[in-house]
Amino acid sequence: MGGKFIVFEGVEGCGKTSQMQLCAEWLQSLGSSVFLTREPGGTELGIDLRRLLLQKSEDKPISEVTELLLYAADRSQHVAQELKPQLAQGKYVLCDRYIDSTIAYQGYGRGLEMNLIHQLNNIATGGLSSDITIWLDVDVEVGLARKRGENVGLDRIEQETMAFHRRVQQGYADLAKSSSSRIIRIDGSLSKESVHKNIQEILSIHLKKLP
Ligand code: TMP
Repeated sequence: MGGKFIVFEGVEGCGKTSQMQLCAEWLQSLGSSVFLTREPGGTELGIDLRRLLLQKSEDKPISEVTELLLYAADRSQHVAQELKPQLAQGKYVLCDRYIDSTIAYQGYGRGLEMNLIHQLNNIATGGLSSDITIWLDVDVEVGLARKRGENVGLDRIEQETMAFHRRVQQGYADLAKSSSSRIIRIDGSLSKESVHKNIQEILSIHLKKLP
């Protein structure tokens, strides 16, 4: 597979979306072909799944295992329909969330069995792992305050308790420790420009090391 697979992760409001955009512009300015995508919602089917997963509706409860399966379904379609083909074309694929979100949110946040999560991640990805994952680390309170400032209302997951979001954050911290060659922590509380500069530095170092 010729391309490079770069994933952005973090708690709500960590700044992934704007950093991905800046990163895409930077890579394009260097002459690279870039494909921007996200989970959930990177395919037509995924857009429908994203709406089901994130809409706040007391009338339509989603059990924890159902939630896990819907994220896995979104991922399975995304890997087959977009990620593998785009990487095969040699592109830089920048993806907003991937398997570590499931470990952090459904594993640490919901407390679901880690073995089950790893099994589903394996099935859904068919073994496709990121070349590098950037974890934008911001305090949960800071991230949620940014989200509230957007004034578009919080979605089903954003509306979870503070304790839930703290467990998710702990998940990322543990993952960054246990997978330190793949997951790189970047301080997401700095200015947008400083975060972007740090991401540029990390990618320049790490992508050179990759095969
Ligand atoms: P976002 O794309 O705006 O960050 O929103 C996606 C939401 O879905 C976010 O709250 C994290 C959550 N999520 C999971 O809980 N598990 C997953 O596997 C993924 C990909 C996202």
